Amino acid sequence: MACGEFGPGRLPEPERIAATIRKLLLAPQGAGPLAGRRAVVTAGPTREPLDPVRFISNHSSGKQGYAIAEALARLGADVRLVTGPTSLAIPDGVKGMKVETAVEMHDAVKAQLPADIFVSVAAVADWRPASRAQTKLKLKGGADAGVALQLVENPDILKRIASKKKDRPRLVVGFAAETNDVEAHARAKLVRKGCDWIIANDVSGDVMGGSDNEVLLVTRKGTERWPRMAKAEVAMRLAERIAEAFCDPEQADARK
Ligand code: CTP
Repeated sequence: MACGEFGPGRLPEPERIAATIRKLLLAPQGAGPLAGRRAVVTAGPTREPLDPVRFISNHSSGKQGYAIAEALARLGADVRLVTGPTSLAIPDGVKGMKVETAVEMHDAVKAQLPADIFVSVAAVADWRPASRAQTKLKLKGGADAGVALQLVENPDILKRIASKKKDRPRLVVGFAAETNDVEAHARAKLVRKGCDWIIANDVSGDVMGGSDNEVLLVTRKGTERWPRMAKAEVAMRLAERIAEAFCDPEQADARK
């Protein structure tokens, strides 16, 4: 320290500085265009256990879902983040619920209803092993001793929430991870899953785990192509669009 002063002279860690800035930027409780609205967001991968030490999962980092939860909270929403295993901290101002499997994620989402907004960002495993061994599966040995794995389908959380008769959130937003014909597949997914908006991205590059994203917003009315930007910016832009949809008095139906 200079000038004869004594004490800790180091800068705090960058994450702490960022967390403090984020806290200062959060809308004060009960304020912001989404104040009084509840949003449920899913994020990250799910893990489907085979035995006590092995599981099936995917490369989702959770970054985009966490950023969306944080952006919605910044606009004043009461945000419940249902997350699979990630290395990220639950953002300030967001209530986090940690789960492992798709079935647990589905149950946790249902427990948060009724809600106004549901944003399904999680990369939910489509299948899980038909049975989970109670003890570690052992090698049988031998050159051709393969193992046949039987899988069963997991619940499609987005589809089930979007098709609820009671307690359907007013705005249901899905994500579509595609590697080709992004817009056509996303539009088909919007119809198939019964959701209101789809954020579609091309995951053939470095999107999963990366910090940037290039997405299309597909609604029933049309498609908007957003330029490549940081996942935090995609999140803020989506949160602002959601706030507009809820605030516009002309637009009684936020889904359009
Ligand atoms: N999703 C979900 N539950 C599942 C599978 C997917 O809630 N069991 C949600 C995802 O969170 C995402 C959307 O559905 O919002 C689309 O996920 P995606 O993996 O792109 O599509 P799939 O349904 O797996 O379809 P396909 O693999 O045929 O593209």
